[in-house]
Amino acid sequence: AHQWRGVIREYADRLPVTESTRVITLGEGGTPLVYAPALSEHTGNEVYLKVEGMNPTGSFKDRGMTMAITAAVEAGAKAVVCASTGNTSASAAAYAAQAGLTCAVLVPDGKIAMGKLSQAIAHGAELLQVDGNFDNCLDVARKLSESYPVFLVNSVNPARIEGQKTGAFEVVDFLGDAPDFHMLPVGNAGNITAYWRGYREYAAPYTNTAGEELAPVSTKTPIMWGFQAEGASPIVKGYPITEPETVATAIRIGNPASWQLAEEARDESGGMIDSVTDEEILLAHRWLSSKEGVFVEPASAAGVAGLLKHHAEGNAPQGKKIVITVTGHGLKDPQWALKGADGAEAEPTKVPFDVVAVADALGLN
Ligand code: F0G
Repeated sequence: AHQWRGVIREYADRLPVTESTRVITLGEGGTPLVYAPALSEHTGNEVYLKVEGMNPTGSFKDRGMTMAITAAVEAGAKAVVCASTGNTSASAAAYAAQAGLTCAVLVPDGKIAMGKLSQAIAHGAELLQVDGNFDNCLDVARKLSESYPVFLVNSVNPARIEGQKTGAFEVVDFLGDAPDFHMLPVGNAGNITAYWRGYREYAAPYTNTAGEELAPVSTKTPIMWGFQAEGASPIVKGYPITEPETVATAIRIGNPASWQLAEEARDESGGMIDSVTDEEILLAHRWLSSKEGVFVEPASAAGVAGLLKHHAEGNAPQGKKIVITVTGHGLKDPQWALKGADGAEAEPTKVPFDVVAVADALGLN
């Protein structure tokens, strides 16, 4: 049977690598595109979820990080740095560990989900909690990489976007063509930029790294719908937010680095970037786990929240093929699952070790 070899080896002819490149990989990519029956039925579309929580460190960041760390090693780097709301740091730390690089991560104080923090620590990163938000962390990480011998692995690094565009390739390879719509969360705006690049590349003739002229793989590109959290929605509002706030800590970002590229993706695809409330995010989060069987972290549900919101308002597509990227695993930030829609903590029902009592509790008697 074929074993997936990671995005660099699977898509080597479309990525900036050569035969002699030492590939740093954990087997990322090749994630399932899961049909979502409840969302499909509810909205009258054919809806698929690109389940990026299935990547080695539990988020889509691994697609970009295999490229960024591979490029860092190729450039002779000894140390890498990133700013992160959590997932980038978990991913950078893991890939840097395999490469034998020192990894420094700058995270906003107190706003990182426990799962992500423990990953960065487990993989041996130098973890620095900055008294500031993500945007402040990115600012410092950038300046550090400009003045000191450390390699920046945030998505402002072009290698990251190159790796992440493979998400779009996999969607097209699986469906046989591009979907009509692609929906996803937007934080620092690297992922919407990367998907759009991947879709555009697959819809055009392409000269690969071996110099061969490849025919287009898809007949079209999708309409891109990106969703920010309302309390962290600078692109929707049209100005940077100095104090972004949302339960979706992964996308708690007030001044996205790829702001302009996200607007290009939106405009060139005829799409939109809109916001969803924390309540809408948590309802979509619960919808995914309870109706589709897919457990994600809150930020990951923003794309689904967006579809549900527009469906409720009567502005959603009908009869279309829709792919929604759910970006990270639910186990990263499990506290939200334990709270009901009413905010109360879910409590297991206590029973004695007795079959009749268990059947009673289950309403079987
Ligand atoms: N979903 C999750 C789970 C994320 O971790 C992120 C970004 C996004 C969506 C948004 O993607 O930034 O490309 O628009 N997390 C970054 C981090 C900022 O540091 O882990 P984006």
